Amino acid sequence: ATAPANWDKPLEGKVAVVTGAARGIGATIAEVLARDGAHVIVADIPAAGEALSKTANKVNGTAFPIDVTADDAGTKLAEHVKERHGGLDIIVNNAGITRDKLLANMDAGRWDSVISVNLIAPQKLVDDLVAADALKSGGAVIDVSSIAGIAGNRGQTNYGTSKAGVVGLVDAYAPVLAEKGITINAVAPGFIETAMTAAIPLATREAGRLMSSLQQGGQTVDVAETVAYFANPASSAVTGNVVRVCGQALL
Ligand code: NAI
Repeated sequence: ATAPANWDKPLEGKVAVVTGAARGIGATIAEVLARDGAHVIVADIPAAGEALSKTANKVNGTAFPIDVTADDAGTKLAEHVKERHGGLDIIVNNAGITRDKLLANMDAGRWDSVISVNLIAPQKLVDDLVAADALKSGGAVIDVSSIAGIAGNRGQTNYGTSKAGVVGLVDAYAPVLAEKGITINAVAPGFIETAMTAAIPLATREAGRLMSSLQQGGQTVDVAETVAYFANPASSAVTGNVVRVCGQALL
């Protein structure tokens, strides 16, 4: 690994993209990467509008409204980073959705949309960036999986499958990206207090909190600091890992 030139700003001179950064975990990841010195491009669906601009302003970065499932999302992103910055150092595939339903009632629409945002988009974005030669050597891909992708979760077959798929992506891409000097790792958060989990019925939410050895939901910063570790040039020897965040040691 290479020690950062400046330990106070280990990502100085680096360019990072964070998807799903208008709010929640993604917004905090953007803040932490910016604190570490990166120029952060915050991407989110066009409908995120003002929230996305707010995050961009907060991190002194660039708002990039885009639906990650759009066919041309990766090529547009590649074009942008090559034109403006000569390439990209860090991509955090954080955009994600839930469409929960018990398995018996799991319709194709819920299944397809969750697989599309949570699994196919992170894979295709990286493929398109690599094909365009937009990801620099020394770079880092960081995917956001979930404890649901490791241990499963009732009513979340689609979500758990998509997040297990992300673990598969990390395994599959690590040796391929290593040839280009790029690392790929994932974080698998437990129950984190965000808008996504606020939508869960209270009893389930309470159960989620209690499943953690911390006996409480995690905060977005718990995830963001783990992502920052994988983005740091000092971790360039660390690839192919999935790190559980938030005390779910038993799962
Ligand atoms: P959130 O719902 O608060 O934020 C997700 C963001 O992704 C939103 O701003 C949304 O607009 C954006 N997004 C959704 N679809 C998109 C698309 N097609 N293109 C671009 N942006 C899109 O969710 P939260 O809690 O911040 O989750 C972030 C990530 O962490 C997700 O991948 C989620 O699955 C994962 N996660 C969350 C956990 C939690 O307990 N909150 C636990 C484990 C994983």
